[in-house]
Amino acid sequence: MAVQTAASTTDSTVDLGPAAALSCRECGHRVPLGPVFACEECFGPLEIAYDFSSYDTEELRKRIEAGPANIWRYAPLLPVPADVAEKPNLNPGWTKLVKADHLARELGVTGGLYVKDDSGNPTHSFKDRVVAQALEAARAFGFTTLSCSSTGNLAGAVGAAAARAGFRSCVFIPHDLEQGKVVMAAIYGGDLVGIEGNYDDVNRFCSELIGDPAGEGWGFVNVNLRPYYAEGSKTLAYEICEQLGWRLPDQIVVPIASGSQLTKIDKGLQELIKLGLVEDRPYKIFGAQAEGCSPVSTAFKAGHDVVRPQKPNTIAKSLAIGNPADGPYVLDIARRTGGAVEDVTDEQVVDAIKLLARTEGIFAETAGGVTVGVTRKLIENGVLDPTKTTVVLNTGDGLKTLDAVAGTGLTATIRPNLDSFREAGLA
Ligand SMILES: Cc1ncc(COP(=O)(O)O)c(C=O)c1O
Ligand SMILES: [Zn+2]
Repeated sequence: MAVQTAASTTDSTVDLGPAAALSCRECGHRVPLGPVFACEECFGPLEIAYDFSSYDTEELRKRIEAGPANIWRYAPLLPVPADVAEKPNLNPGWTKLVKADHLARELGVTGGLYVKDDSGNPTHSFKDRVVAQALEAARAFGFTTLSCSSTGNLAGAVGAAAARAGFRSCVFIPHDLEQGKVVMAAIYGGDLVGIEGNYDDVNRFCSELIGDPAGEGWGFVNVNLRPYYAEGSKTLAYEICEQLGWRLPDQIVVPIASGSQLTKIDKGLQELIKLGLVEDRPYKIFGAQAEGCSPVSTAFKAGHDVVRPQKPNTIAKSLAIGNPADGPYVLDIARRTGGAVEDVTDEQVVDAIKLLARTEGIFAETAGGVTVGVTRKLIENGVLDPTKTTVVLNTGDGLKTLDAVAGTGLTATIRPNLDSFREAGLA
C-alpha cells in the first residue's frame, strides 16, 4: 500500500477555522494541515488538533444555540472555515432525538431511552455529516474530484455532496450491494464503480489509486481526507448532549464498521466536558456489530488489544468491514468508559428493525437493527443498565435495505367492497 505521509504534501496556509494542525494519535507528532492521514514518524493515524483556547463557555453556548439547525451550529468546534454555512453543501444534521417510550417499555428501560435518528439526513444516513467536513477540506486543498471507498451509504453521501458543490465524483463500492444503496449512489450523476470483492478489497484498491498518477488530485473522503471526514461524527455527540439540555447521556450504543464514528463520538463528548458545556461525569460507550462481521466484539470478548480481521458475511452490509482501521481505539474506549462491544445475529437484526418500527415508527436500515438488537441483548445480559439514560443510534434508513425485511407486506388482499373487508376479519 502506498502510504501518503505528512512529509509528502502539507499546506499550512489553509483556513479551516479552529483546526490548528494534524496530530498523530500514536506518538503526538504534529504536522501542518494537509491532505495526509498517516504519521511520517510512526505511520499512526493523524487527527485534527484544535485551538479552542479563546472560547468562553457561555459565549460559545449562546453562539451554538443561535446557529443554524444543522451541523454548522458547531462550526467553532469543527475543521471548517467560519463562513462554511454560506457555501453550497447539503447542510446535514440536527436530526431528531426521539424519546422512545414504547421501545423503552418493551426493553424494560426505566431511565429514559432515546433514538438518535440519523436517517433524517439529506441522503438518509449519518454519512452526510462526515462528507460535509471532507468537502470543506477538499475545497481548502484544491481538489475537484471527490472519491471514497464505501459500504454503500458513504457513496451516496459523496455523490450528492459533489453534485451540490459542483465537484466531479467517482466512488467505489463492493459490486454486490443492496439496490437501494446502488441507486442512491448513482442518481446524482457521478461515476460509481463496483469492485469484485468486499469492502476491504475496495479500500485496498483506493489506497493504491491514491499513490498512482490516475488518482492524482482526488480527495478520497475516508482516505487522504480521513482526519477531516472523521470529525463530522463529533456532531452526533454535540447534538445528543444539546438535545438532552446540555447533558451527557449515561450510555450510548453506536454501530461499528471502521470504528471511526464511535471514536469521534467519544472525542466529541470529551471536548464538551473540557469546554465546560456539559458536566464532567462518567458515560459509557457500547459498540454494536453483526455476528457475521464482528472483529471488534470478538476481540473485546476475548480480552484482546488487537483486532483479528474477518471475512464479512452478514445482511448488515453497511457495517461489513472485516479489517476495521479504528478497531483498537474502539476497544480502548469501550474498556475505558466501562462499556462493551457486542454482536447480534442477522435474525436478531431483522427482529430489531421490526421492533423499532412497530414501537416508535422509525424504519431503520440494518445498521439500526444492529444497534437496537445489541441494546436488547446487553440489557438481557445485565451489561447495560436499564435505569440509566440511554441513547441508541439509528444511522440509516430502512428504505435502502428493503431486502432485509422482504416478506413484510400486505395484511390481506380484498375486493373493493365491505363484505370482502369483513370477510378478511379486519373490522
Ligand atoms: C449506516 C451506517 N452506520 C454506521 C456505519 C459505521 O461507520 P464507521 O465506519 O465510522 O464505524 C456505517 C459505515 O458505513 C454506516 O453506513
Ligand atoms: Zn506518529
